Amino acid sequence: MSIFRNVLLAASENRWLRERAVRFPFVRRAVTRFMPGETFEDALAASRALGVGTVLTRLGENLRNAAEAADVARHYREVLDRIHGASRGDRSDGPAPAAGQSLDVEISVKLTQLGLDFSREECEAHLHELARHAQSLGNWVWVDMESTAYTQVTLDIYRRLRSAFPNTGLCVQSYLYRTADDVESLIALGSGIRLVKGAYREPPDKAFPKKEDVDESYFRLAERLLSDGAREKGVRAIFGTHDPALIRRIEAHGRSLGRKPDQIEFQLLYGIGRSEQLRLSAAGYRFRVLISYGEAWFAWYMRRLAERPANVLFVLKSLF
Ligand code: FDA
Repeated sequence: MSIFRNVLLAASENRWLRERAVRFPFVRRAVTRFMPGETFEDALAASRALGVGTVLTRLGENLRNAAEAADVARHYREVLDRIHGASRGDRSDGPAPAAGQSLDVEISVKLTQLGLDFSREECEAHLHELARHAQSLGNWVWVDMESTAYTQVTLDIYRRLRSAFPNTGLCVQSYLYRTADDVESLIALGSGIRLVKGAYREPPDKAFPKKEDVDESYFRLAERLLSDGAREKGVRAIFGTHDPALIRRIEAHGRSLGRKPDQIEFQLLYGIGRSEQLRLSAAGYRFRVLISYGEAWFAWYMRRLAERPANVLFVLKSLF
């Protein structure tokens, strides 16, 4: 792992920096490259403008108490209501798309945002309630994967969720050695599985330190997710990456298995790899853009910088 990436990831965990950096207008300007705005309305407007399916996630991972978690759960419930009210052209509750225009929007949540650090029981209750509500609306709930401090508990919570709600999926990270086994157990459940490389700072006894190993692990896992065995189990596999070489390998592998583009699903982050997004969408792949919004963007933004340290130049340019 490059030293610079390490520094940026360490900064993402620094409270002192977080409290100060977010006040600088040039930092706030730079963030808009990856985030259409801080409010749900901004994210909704971006979904509409993009004209493709999206996944919305509200930023904020270190809550101070259980009451904040309950607020987050309430917020996501309202988001689901708004998405579906919006789809029906119901404009009674704030800005919505034009009547009749359907919004294809799912949500993705972090368990720490639902209070995992305070009470696992309450966190699970919030998650099940969201999944139940999403199911009643014909929608999905995705669970993000956080750092390795949470991997096992996240898997345990997800497995219980999946046994009650098939309309749910979990993110897994190809940089972890354990993920090959985790993916097998998730395939057996017929889960929704979103494969990503992994965005946190992890030690070499848990995660591949070299990028080429992370990439190779990603492709091996992608092969497994595209396999007949995974399909037969009803897995909904999502490939969450902007890596053009990997995307092309996945496309080629899909073709070699006789899969049509609409049987393969990619998700990319808002503002990253736009030409790839347009290409995938035009080629007929199932495709969504993940849009983040919210006021607590600092840690998340530092992880985006760490993925591509050249982005720091972009921040500096925003100074002028
Ligand atoms: P890689 O980092 O190798 O980048 C490949 C290329 O993509 C780069 O060369 C560059 O061109 C472009 N690129 C990538 N990141 C960029 C950036 N920040 N700015 C500009 N260009 C960039 N992680 C996690 O740990 N838990 C999670 O729940 C999720 N969820 C998630 C959902 C979705 C839909 C996506 C796309 C990603 C995540 N991630 C995540 C983040 C993921 O782990 C990973 O950090 C990023 O996707 C970057 O890795 P790439 O696969 O894009 O490859």
